[in-house]
Amino acid sequence: MKIAIITGSSGLIGSEAVHFFASKFDLIVGVDNNLRAYFFGKDASTDWNLKNLSEKFQNFEHHNIDIRDFGH
Ligand SMILES: NC(=O)c1ccc[n+]([C@@H]2O[C@H](COP(=O)([O-])OP(=O)(O)OC[C@H]3O[C@@H](n4cnc5c(N)ncnc54)[C@H](O)[C@@H]3O)[C@@H](O)[C@H]2O)c1
Repeated sequence: MKIAIITGSSGLIGSEAVHFFASKFDLIVGVDNNLRAYFFGKDASTDWNLKNLSEKFQNFEHHNIDIRDFGH
């Protein structure tokens, strides 16, 4: 099984990467915790893009994870 992991998957570049790779991989694992909304306010939220990707691609799986992983 071919799996692609895309960080920042709800953002501008990440979501375009999901569009590009969705037909080339069996599973796309997106990692994004919408930190953009934390930094820039709710108008900057990328939730709308996450919803779009989830509706559009059956093989897209989202994980609300902080890539910085402060625990380690
Ligand atoms: N937009 C451009 O034209 C452009 C061009 C070249 C390079 N870049 C660089 O590419 C990167 C992404 O740019 P973008 O335009 O897609 O930004 P963006 O703000 O649209 O997307 C970034 C995404 O990453 C998520 N994110 C941020 N911190 C996170 C964390 N700790 N854990 C999980 N998710 C997190 C945000 O919530 C957001 O959805 C940036 O480093 C930017 O400087 C952007």
